[in-house]
Amino acid sequence: MCKIEIKTVLFLIILQIFLVATAAFEETHESDGQIAEKCCSQTYETLKPMLDYFRQVRNELEQSEIKKNKLNELNSDLMEKYHEIVRIHEKFMKEAALLNEYKNKVIKGENDLQSCQNKVDKLESVFNLQKNIIDKLTPISKLYAKCKQEVADKTSTLESSEVQLKQLKSSLYKKDENIRRLNANIKMITEEQQQLKLQLDESQNMLIKTDKDNQICRAEIDTLNKTLPNTKIPSSCSPFGDYPGVHQLNVSGVGLFDVLCDSQLIGPGWIVIQQRVGGNESFNRDWATYRKGFGSFDSDFFLGLEKIHRITSLRRHELYIHLVDVYRTVYFARYDDFKISDEDNGYALSLGTFSGAFVLDGMRFSENIKFTTFDRDNDSASDNCADQYESGWWYTNCYYCNLNAPYGPNLHWLGSTMSDMKLKEVKMLIRPERSDEEVSN
Ligand SMILES: *[C@@H]1O[C@H](CO)[C@@H](O)[C@H](O)[C@H]1NC(C)=O
Ligand SMILES: *[C@@H]1O[C@H](CO)[C@@H](O)[C@H](O)[C@H]1NC(C)=O
Ligand SMILES: *[C@@H]1O[C@H](CO)[C@@H](O)[C@H](O)[C@H]1NC(C)=O
Ligand SMILES: *[C@@H]1O[C@H](CO)[C@@H](O)[C@H](O)[C@H]1NC(C)=O
Repeated sequence: MCKIEIKTVLFLIILQIFLVATAAFEETHESDGQIAEKCCSQTYETLKPMLDYFRQVRNELEQSEIKKNKLNELNSDLMEKYHEIVRIHEKFMKEAALLNEYKNKVIKGENDLQSCQNKVDKLESVFNLQKNIIDKLTPISKLYAKCKQEVADKTSTLESSEVQLKQLKSSLYKKDENIRRLNANIKMITEEQQQLKLQLDESQNMLIKTDKDNQICRAEIDTLNKTLPNTKIPSSCSPFGDYPGVHQLNVSGVGLFDVLCDSQLIGPGWIVIQQRVGGNESFNRDWATYRKGFGSFDSDFFLGLEKIHRITSLRRHELYIHLVDVYRTVYFARYDDFKISDEDNGYALSLGTFSGAFVLDGMRFSENIKFTTFDRDNDSASDNCADQYESGWWYTNCYYCNLNAPYGPNLHWLGSTMSDMKLKEVKMLIRPERSDEEVSN
């Protein structure tokens, strides 16, 4: 702006000088011809381009006057524009100041931001510190949780233990009660025992007394027995009805021999001729042994074919067969006219009428059949049944019942459905028929 002003002023000054110079020249212009006359024509010739030049300049100056006016116009325009520019400059300055203000504000904001950042950094470091602490605390808190769980577990265990304890206490209380009751019982029993002991002592004393009485009695009997030297020894168990056990008989043909008398099974006066009560006695014996008899009255025995023949020859006898199967069920079979023939006839079997409970007439098949042992084969089989079944018996081909068979499946009787009753206990007993007995005794 300033430069423009200066240039304009300078131009105006030069213009002024130029105007003065041309005016001076114009005063001399009218006398050019005269000058040419005055001056040598050569000089004029020299000065002429110069004079043309001045004329040209004067034209130009006239033109420039117009231009000057135009310039002035422009100049005022320029001045106007200058003022406008000044206004704009002022406005600009104002805005610059405003900008400055903003700048300051921004700087201040930046400072604030910085301080904020610092605060954030500080907070972050604090946060990190706390995070470290928390990290350190995490295992501790886990441990705490575990401890808490354990405590809870222990508490529940404790509770269940308490419940158990309560139960135990109540059961203990019950047991105490029981013990008290048992103690009372023991006391009662002890008292009873003492009483029983007293009774026992009394009984023992009585027994001793009875024994003495018995001895006196026996002595009297002996005396009596001596005064009656011809007392008959019986041929049956009938006289020993009240005294079962082993007794002596006197039977013609065999003389004196011991028998087992039974009164318990089906009344008094029975002679046991065969017994299987689980003993280990072998019944696989020869003819001579079966003839004579074998075994022990305490367990298993066979009285002997000859004795049985002789006893049953004296008078009519009945046979009672006592049977116990492997399930401990008791059965019986009965024949009302039992006897066996003499040895010459092979001790052949006779039975009479059968009666029984839940069993069949198993021995009927042996009726009139001779006795067979392994060394004397009188059966109707091609082989020796006694050999085959390891026992002497009245075999046909071979048997429906064999009470002398070894313990096991062969020791059986014919059941009510034709099936075999497996036996574990057998007794064969004989007794004189009542009517017959009266006559002979
Ligand atoms: C009586 O005496 C005889 C022998 O003289 C004897 O065999 C018998 O057992 C005696 N009887 C009693 C009951 O003691
Ligand atoms: C046995 O009985 C017969 C008669 O059958 C008799 O002769 C004998 O004397 C009796 N024996 C005894 C020891 O009583
Ligand atoms: C039976 O048993 C008794 C003892 O248990 C024994 O002494 C005896 O020899 C036995 N008899 C047989 C025939 O096995
Ligand atoms: C029994 O059989 C034997 C041969 O084992 C024979 O010697 C005997 O005569 C027979 N007895 C009778 C009575 O048939």
